[in-house]
Order: sequence, then structure tokens, then C-alpha cells
Amino acid sequence: MNIDKKTYRLKPQVKIENLLPEIDQKKDCQRIIDGLLKNKKSIPSVYFYDETGSQLFEEITRLPEYYLNRTEKLLLAEVSTQIADGIKDIDIVEIGSGDCSKISILFDSIPAINRKTIRYLPIDISQSAIQKSANNLIDCFPEIEVHGIAANFLDQIRLPYQRKKRLFCFFGSTIGNLSRKKSLNFLINLKENMEPGDRLLLGLDLIKNPKIIEAAYNDSQKVTEKFNQNILNVVNQKIKSDFYPKDFNHLAYYNQDYCRIEMHLKAKKDLMVSSPYLENNIWIKKNETIHTENSHKFSPGQINYLTKKSGFEIKRKFFDPKQWYSIVELTKR
Ligand code: AVJ
Repeated sequence: MNIDKKTYRLKPQVKIENLLPEIDQKKDCQRIIDGLLKNKKSIPSVYFYDETGSQLFEEITRLPEYYLNRTEKLLLAEVSTQIADGIKDIDIVEIGSGDCSKISILFDSIPAINRKTIRYLPIDISQSAIQKSANNLIDCFPEIEVHGIAANFLDQIRLPYQRKKRLFCFFGSTIGNLSRKKSLNFLINLKENMEPGDRLLLGLDLIKNPKIIEAAYNDSQKVTEKFNQNILNVVNQKIKSDFYPKDFNHLAYYNQDYCRIEMHLKAKKDLMVSSPYLENNIWIKKNETIHTENSHKFSPGQINYLTKKSGFEIKRKFFDPKQWYSIVELTKR
């Protein structure tokens, strides 16, 4: 089914708006090709999230080694009880809503009578994830009005008319995918989309023993490997190339200098890749790597710096007992 930019209704309460067709196809291809033609090859990590990629990521969140989701959810349960009282008559905008399992934790702690006064706006790059999760969500919370938006939220934040005060949620430490500079710009841009008094709940993975971090990105079931390799299927589809994902090993390690996990795909042998969008074939040498993701980790000091520098006021900071993860509550003055 080809869903063009229009609004359509799935169930009475769920409305999904698709802003993805606004992404310029040509620019999309150009971005991928530019990365592949660089001396140090790279692919932007937004291309992980086709339908398969989103499913694989959900599988990752259930892995024993992947502490991020579990830790954030436990922390969020605690945060929710502390902030739930004030949550009524607002729009809740979740950036990168995924399977909507996190927002459910927040909704759980809001009294049903107040839930009726809430509109929920999940934004995600994956159209399929939004559709599925928004429908599941209203089975549990039929009183909440849901207006989903499929968009590339890292460079496209456009929100429908707001009637009310807004609470933004950006969980999962997804901000860590951006460089330090881009994460600052992202927050500044987000703040511009907010009104004074609006709030932001931001989830961030903290710096810890690198062994624990590295294990989270090198799981024994090799789901992360599949997730990493799948980006080549997305690339193949976008630029009609002929990558064979199994020709690459999964490589993920902690870079101490930048406090970040780096994921790469490492060629098992000499390879050639072609695409109708390329004048010449791309030659990839054995052991050459393609950089697919950065996942920055934060110190409490870096969180202070980042949030204050972007002009937010820190209202509250929450940490789990092990200090592995943090959720900060920010406001725009
Ligand atoms: C969704 C970006 C937060 O960086 O931990 C999981 C993506 N990559 N395993 C992360 C991911 C490899 C994840 N984020």
C-alpha cells in the first residue's frame, strides 16, 4: 500500500500522520552514497530502522546484556510516581516512541480520570512501529487520544497545532546517536518548538565500566550483529546496490576518548559493490570497516553542560541505584 502524505484513521481514537514522503528521495540516496565514498566509509544510523530493523531493535531491548531499556524502565516507574500528579490537560509528545512500552509506564501511574484529558503524540521514523504500537496502546488505554506522526525526528520536528501545555519525552538515550555538537543543536531546535512552561523528560545512558557497555552491544545471541548487518539491506533497497550483509563482521567497541560505543561492519574479504547511482563500483578491502553508529555515554557533568548550554532549566535529575542511567526533567523558561 502506498500511503501518501495524508491523515487517515485506523481506529476511532488513533490518527496517524505520515511526514516521511516529505523526505527528499534524492537527498536520501545522496547521503548514503556520500558516506560510502568517503575515505573512512560510513552509513547514517537512521537507516537501521526499516520494519526488520525496528523489530530487531525491539529484540535487542529484551536481551540480558542490553541493560539500557531495563534500567530506564525501572527508573521511569519511579520518575512516573513523582511527576504523575501534575499530568493532566496536556499533550504528551514522545520522540522516538518505538513500541510505546515506556510511555505505558507513565500512563500507568496517571489516574484514569486524568488520562482522559491527555492527548498522546508518538513520533517515530518507523511507520510500522507507530501503527502497531499505537493500536496496542489504545487497547490498554482507550481513553487516551492518540495522534501518531511518522517522521525522521532527528532532523524534522513539526508538530500539529497545540491546544495545551506539552510534555516532551525523549527516552532510550537516542540522543547519544548524535555527535556532541549535533545533540546540542538538536536540543536547541527542540526548545524552539516549545512554549515557556513546557517540559522535557530526557533519558541518557551514563558512563560506566566499559566491559558492561561493550557486552550490551556484543550480545551472545548475535541479535546486534543482525541489526548491524541489516542496515545493508536498507542501503540496498535505497540505492539499489548489491551488498551481501553476511560478507561483513559485526564490530562494536567502546571508544574511551569520545565516551561512546562505535559500531562498524568489517569486510570479511575483498568486495565490490555496484549501484545505478554510482559512476564507478565501490571496492572494499578485506578488514576495511563501515562505521554505522555512535552511541555516546554521558557523565552527570556532561548532562549538566549539555542541557544548560542548550538553554533548558534542569528541574529534577533521576538516577537508578547503580548510577547506570539517568532521566532528567527539563523546562523551558
Ligand atoms: C536506540 C540508539 C539508543 O544506541 O543503544 C542498540 C541503538 N544499537 N544496539 C543504542 C542500538 C545497537 C540504541 N539506540
